[in-house]
Amino acid sequence: MNLNKLKIISIIGARPQFIKASPIELAFSKYPNVDFYSIHTGQHYDTNMSEIFFNQLKLKQPYKTLESGGKSHGKQTADILVGIEELLLEIKPNLIIVYGDTNSTIGAALAAAKLHIPIAHIEAGLRSFNKQMPEEVNRILTDHISDLLFVPSENAVSQLASEGITKQVFLCGDVMKDIMKICLDQNIIPDNNNKNYYYTTIHRPYNTDDKERLISILNTLNALDKKVIFSIHPRTLNLLKNTYQVELNFNNIEFIEPQGYFDNLAYLKNCDCVITDSGGMQKEAYWLQKKCITIRKETEWSETLENGCNTLVFDNLNEIENILKTENLQFDNTLYGTANASEIIAESIIDFIKNSSSTKTN
Ligand code: UD1
Ligand code: UDP
Repeated sequence: MNLNKLKIISIIGARPQFIKASPIELAFSKYPNVDFYSIHTGQHYDTNMSEIFFNQLKLKQPYKTLESGGKSHGKQTADILVGIEELLLEIKPNLIIVYGDTNSTIGAALAAAKLHIPIAHIEAGLRSFNKQMPEEVNRILTDHISDLLFVPSENAVSQLASEGITKQVFLCGDVMKDIMKICLDQNIIPDNNNKNYYYTTIHRPYNTDDKERLISILNTLNALDKKVIFSIHPRTLNLLKNTYQVELNFNNIEFIEPQGYFDNLAYLKNCDCVITDSGGMQKEAYWLQKKCITIRKETEWSETLENGCNTLVFDNLNEIENILKTENLQFDNTLYGTANASEIIAESIIDFIKNSSSTKTN
């Protein structure tokens, strides 16, 4: 056994986390003294919500995959907490990495905190200020039990400071920018030959859990001046088909299954506007200099709202039509960093582990 090897576990489970973890895994692969493991909580499990990202982004197979998918919030979070605790006791890592704000994030962070295993939180300091969102609760709690906080923006640094968190906060930019740049630079995004359409994803509970709300969103999209290509999240599809018993025949909307990362970027790159309630897609739209309309009352990615690059629409869906007409948007290509967040994160984590073990032995 090599006693100097550092063991780091990356906790993944939901679609955006496979994407966020990929540049991190790549950054750690440059350190031969690190044993990098990932654990999949099983929160997302369909091929197009999980496996496709392992294949496309060449992620290492997880050390173990738990079965937490399709459960209520309490059961899912509890199962992740129990499952991750067992694995942490078995692997005894020096640190775990958690991403974003899902039930996988908080379940794993809680397990580590109770075992006194240091936690690095990637995408720390973001707030929507809406505690009705499960994600808001998850991200606040995770920030407050994390040892290293990697933040994408100055606003996130200030937010953490206002909550009393000032130590081990690293302004590093956003890891999603890293992986997007890697893929664009490698020229691996397919040309889907689609043009003249709006690209949509909708999955948040406040847009999907009420039948009338979801139908009014679909009717609005159906009445737009260009075709809408709608990558449909399994949550939304299940509700429409099974719970609401609604046929997917809206003549202006082309529903497509959840896309792999490369095809999704192709749809983003070629569209005329992104209409979404996704966190990740708001950022990707911005970096690709696409106008974005976010079907939400608030966004934790508030910087994207500047200069009208992203616009929030919630109650009055008819506003969408007018926003689609705005032109000449100015994007800031340094928003959320310069696509080297993963390298900063890997280096800072290794320094932290080394410093804390030398403090312990002194
Ligand atoms: C979760 C995250 C959300 C994130 C989103 C990314 C929480 C609280 N929410 O929301 O922050 O934006 O992932 O996509 O962690 N389902 C399938 N197959 C799958 C995955 C899900 O059928 O592979 C269905 C199941 O019926 C499940 C439902 O979708 O009950 C919702 O999945 P869940 O992971 O609970 O929440 P998301 O809406 O995906
Ligand atoms: N995404 C994808 N295929 C799709 C829709 C989204 O690969 O069909 C990617 C998208 O590029 C982004 C991430 O998934 O990187 C966003 O995940 P999601 O919208 O599920 O969650 P959120 O970001 O809202 O938490």
